[in-house]
Amino acid sequence: MKHKMQEEIKEKTEPVSDSLISCDSLVKIYKTDEVEVMALQGLELEVKQGELMAIIGKSGSGKSTLLNMLGGLEKSSAGKLYVNGKDLFAMSEKELVNYRKYTVGFVWQKSARNLFSYMTVLENIEAPMYNQDKHKCREWALTLLERVGLSHKADVFPDQLSGGEQQRVAIAVALANRPQILLADEPTGAVDSKTSNMIQDMFRSLNEEMGITIIIVTHDISLANKVNRVVMISDGKIGTEKIMKAEYRKKMDELESDSFSAEDSHEEYSVLDKAGRVQLNQEMLEAVGIDSNKVKICVEDGKVIITKEN
Ligand SMILES: Nc1ncnc2c1ncn2[C@@H]1O[C@H](COP(=O)(O)OP(=O)(O)OP(=O)(O)O)[C@@H](O)[C@H]1O
Ligand SMILES: [Mg+2]
Repeated sequence: MKHKMQEEIKEKTEPVSDSLISCDSLVKIYKTDEVEVMALQGLELEVKQGELMAIIGKSGSGKSTLLNMLGGLEKSSAGKLYVNGKDLFAMSEKELVNYRKYTVGFVWQKSARNLFSYMTVLENIEAPMYNQDKHKCREWALTLLERVGLSHKADVFPDQLSGGEQQRVAIAVALANRPQILLADEPTGAVDSKTSNMIQDMFRSLNEEMGITIIIVTHDISLANKVNRVVMISDGKIGTEKIMKAEYRKKMDELESDSFSAEDSHEEYSVLDKAGRVQLNQEMLEAVGIDSNKVKICVEDGKVIITKEN
């Protein structure tokens, strides 16, 4: 009996790796009256503490589903998700409430969902800290407001702000409880490119100065080019992954310039899953003329070579 309990405790808390976030074969099936949609199909992803990354992918590929799971807002149909070594789906309701409140901060695309319209900007930032020392809350809320460049807007209501300003307040709200992880779903989706640039730079400095792990779902290619790692979801799985080249990072730091082309910025990798599978995209298949479901694989000179069947 004791042994079984120990096993259970181990099962609940043991990390599958040293990552901050570890997604292990996540599956999500949505059932409606007529159809079943498989939004995630065995997704695997590891995120380390302090990463600044983007998730890209076509509409309907499962990006928001994944982000909602990371935010503790949705459960999977199968698979596991560990954050700080804790199995998120084995948490009690109380643990989940605390997780949502203190471990993650969420920024939604629609600013209306992020802010209370009947509260001032400052009150919105203080709202998540409701049971803490009032004086300290005020101080921290003002610091955050300064951090997002909106100190002069403390006493106005959200509908008196532009879309971009609302999103910046939303970021401050998400940071109110000093979360370890900031999740943002299309944060620059509804703003112009100048504002988008400003928000991108804010994410980078929050990541560098406060050490917050940031995961952004985006369609915005310029945003994806400014993060250190971009993972592409296709059909509910991580297809490819791009890591920012060290020399690009250095150049960007030196010049603070966008004058490098997107292709120069990142190195692209295919992702190998735990079962040793990789996905070949349509471009690769067409480039080597693979048009059936059989390929030849051989190892030569330390390389794995995949060719069309004869
Ligand atoms: N609550 C739900 N009920 C039924 N199906 C859903 C639900 N939420 C998402 N889906 C379906 O799951 C799939 C993945 O949706 P998801 O919202 O994760 O995509 P996405 O990559 O965020 O797309 P977009 O870029 O358009 O926001 C889609 O086919 C979607 O229709
Ligand atoms: Mg979405």
